[in-house]
Formats: sequence, C-alpha cells, structure tokens
Amino acid sequence: MISKIEKLLNKVDAFKAESLDEIEKFRIELLGKKGEVTVLFSDFKAVPNELKKEVGQKMNQLKNTAADKIELLKQELSSNREVTVGSDLTLPGEPKNLGSRHPISLVRNEISEIFKRIGFVISEGPEIEDDWHVFSALNFPEEHPARDMQDTFFIEKNPDVLLRTHTSSVQVRVMDYQKPPIRTLSPGRVFRNEAISARAHCIFHQVEGLYVDKDVSFADLKQTLLYFAKEFFGEKSEIRLRPSYFPFTEPSAEVDISCSLCGGKGCNVCKYTGWLEILGCGMVDPNVLESSGIDSKVYSGYAFGMGIERIAMLKYGIKDLRMFFENDKRFMDQFSGNY
Ligand code: DAH
Repeated sequence: MISKIEKLLNKVDAFKAESLDEIEKFRIELLGKKGEVTVLFSDFKAVPNELKKEVGQKMNQLKNTAADKIELLKQELSSNREVTVGSDLTLPGEPKNLGSRHPISLVRNEISEIFKRIGFVISEGPEIEDDWHVFSALNFPEEHPARDMQDTFFIEKNPDVLLRTHTSSVQVRVMDYQKPPIRTLSPGRVFRNEAISARAHCIFHQVEGLYVDKDVSFADLKQTLLYFAKEFFGEKSEIRLRPSYFPFTEPSAEVDISCSLCGGKGCNVCKYTGWLEILGCGMVDPNVLESSGIDSKVYSGYAFGMGIERIAMLKYGIKDLRMFFENDKRFMDQFSGNY
C-alpha cells in the first residue's frame, strides 16, 4: 500500500500540463469518483490496525499534494496567459472615444471668430452682477419691468446683487476700464426668472457686441451685421431691420435674417414669413456713454446682442431649447468631430 502511495506521489510530482483540459483529466484520474486516490481510500478498511496511522497519514499527504498541485498548475496557466497578453507591445491600443464640443460652445466660437476677423476683441464680465452694471448704467428707468423680481434673480438679503439678465452689462464693465476706440464682443451666460419650456429657459447664453469711436454711424452697424449674417448663415443671406426699443440704444432695431432653410420662400421654421429674428441692436444711447464717463459729443457707438441658443437652434435645426441643458449623450454625440 505504502509503495502504491509513493508511486502516486511521484506521479503527481512529475505531472506537467499545458492546458486546463489536461489538468482536469489528471484530476479525474486521481481524485475523481473512480480515481486512483479515491480507490485507495476505499481500500483503507483492509489495512491492518497497527499500520492504519502511518498509511492514513501518507494517504492524506497524497490527497493534499495532488489537490495543491492541481490548483498550482491552474493558477500558473491563467497568469501565464495574462503575461502573454499584457506584454505584447505590438497589439493596438484600446481606442478611447473623444468627447465632443457642446453646440453652444461651437456656435459661440464661430460667432467670436467672425467678429475677431474685423477687429473685435473678446471680453468677459461676472455672472453675479450689481444693479448699476445690469440696469442703471444702461439707462433702464426705475420702474422698468426687467427690474422686477418676476424677471430677475435677486439676492434676497441684498437686492443690489443679482444674476445678470443680459450680457449688455459687459458693455459697462469694458467702458469702466477702457476708453474709446472700443470694439468688443462679450459672450456669456445669462439668467432670467422664466418657466422652463421648449422655447424658454432660466439659463441661456448671449453674445454682446459694442463699438465706440468717433463717427460711428448706423450704416456701420448695418454693414457689420450683414457681414456677420453672410459669414455665419451663408453668402446668400440678407438682413432686414425693424424699429424697436431698448433703453440703452437710440435708435434701436430688431434684425431679421432671410430664412436659411427655405431661402426666403417661406416654411414652417420662419412661419411662412421668409424671415427669422436673430438679434437686437442700435446706436448706444448718449446717456449710456455719459454714465461710463465717455463724452457723447465726441464719441458715438453701436451695440448688438443675440441669443446663442436661438442661433444654434437655427443652425442645427434643434426644436427644443431644453436639449442644450440635459447633456444627453445621444444629443451631444451628434456634434462630435466638430472643434
Ligand atoms: N440686451 C438685450 C436683451 O437681452 C439684447 C440687446 C438688444 C443687446 C439691443 C444690445 C442691443 O446691445 O443694442 O434682450
């Protein structure tokens, strides 16, 4: 019996395997129901009492050695595999998906580039503002509805602190530290106390333009906006100006662009008018120049402001404003590859 055990121990010791299948076969051969070790155990009854202790110990040793060896071989095989895969430096790298720019950033950058080409410099101002920069310096009368809590987010403890409702506040900021000539473009985020819907949001983005110098005329404004429309929406674009009112410009106008989808013929996007409203503009009101310490008898200027979401919706045919804020990957992925 002992010599049988010794033989099996040698067999276990000498066993080598190249695959998990071989190991499994070996395990069944020894430890399976009819395996050699298992059979030995059933023969144990026949061992004379005085030898039982010695033989029993040997048999346990054999069983444990076989089990350990099988486990060891299995581990070696699986770690070998990892080493081979991990160390093959010729394998191609794992592809990493590039993110995409948000459509609002794409449109903001494109608008900025167009105006930079004609000498506009980008400027920024704070999103948390005070009454002076958002309203008073821009010639808003005391009782103007935009100053109402309904439209503007104020800090309750200090109503002089508010979230800017438009980027026109950056005009005032720039004129605070720069004297004419000024030619600046201010993109940024603005906030209004509005119910969220497909067409309105409490957070959105605007681009503000300001040009102040000697002899700036309404014709300069019109040509600049026509240039922008053609650069952004295509060479065939036309613009039309309609009289309007803003406290900070006089005269003021709203600008429509010929519908880029139907070419002006009329479609459901332009509501069959052939025109789409894209921005507000005007000649800077002399009161605004004077509030910032600029002599309105020497200098004049124009200003304009447009909503980035609105322009992006027209450009990409997006029908619901909320999509810009949901960060749904399926929406965002459609802009990948655009930088
Ligand atoms: N601030 C205006 C708004 O939020 C947009 C605007 C209109 C800006 C006319 C201007 C301007 O600079 O001249 O609706």
